[in-house]
Amino acid sequence: MHTPDNTNFHLLDHPLIQHKLSLARRTETPTIQFRRLLKEISLLMGYEITRGLPLEHQLIDTPLESMQAPMIQGKKVAVVAILRAGLGMTSGLHELMPSAREGHIGLYRDPETKRPVEYLVKLPEPEGRLFILVDPMLATGHSAAYAIDVLNRHGVADLDIRFMALVAAPEGLAVLRETHPEVPVYAAALDRQLDDHAYIRPGLGDAGDRLFGTK
Ligand code: URA
Repeated sequence: MHTPDNTNFHLLDHPLIQHKLSLARRTETPTIQFRRLLKEISLLMGYEITRGLPLEHQLIDTPLESMQAPMIQGKKVAVVAILRAGLGMTSGLHELMPSAREGHIGLYRDPETKRPVEYLVKLPEPEGRLFILVDPMLATGHSAAYAIDVLNRHGVADLDIRFMALVAAPEGLAVLRETHPEVPVYAAALDRQLDDHAYIRPGLGDAGDRLFGTK
């Protein structure tokens, strides 16, 4: 993991993550493989994101003796997908944390204002939970910032939120740093820039279309 000084951004540069992301980016990668790669990358990213979960020692018996063994300290986790592409990142995280709850935030872009508007919000109870908010492409950052606002309104503090993307654009990172500086952002790549259509370059195209095989 690479963390530039004084930022909330963490680049997950593990070779397996990088290799799988390169496969996912390729134009010729079909939907079935893209879906599998996104799941695998999310699982690998999940290791790093949960690194800070608090541990406590509990007394257990091995077949030979008793010992104080480290266990995760009852911190509950919720995975929240920003629809629809975020759905491609939840199953990998559930494989790591089968008891994590799952929430959904559906947003569309108002054609006039170009700003996000919510059409669906379903979230688990916030108490004592770490919320991992997922969306493969952190592009303009407006949906991500809006989704974090939704979590805040639901009673989740920025300190209890992690944002996880596959590919981030500098523009999106800047928006999150401005609006929610205390939310750590994790991504497998920081690409060059957004183009005039708000696509990330070089990117991987439309993540939702690639995941679901739509056009
Ligand atoms: N959403 C995508 O799916 N791809 C991008 O490049 C930007 C936003």
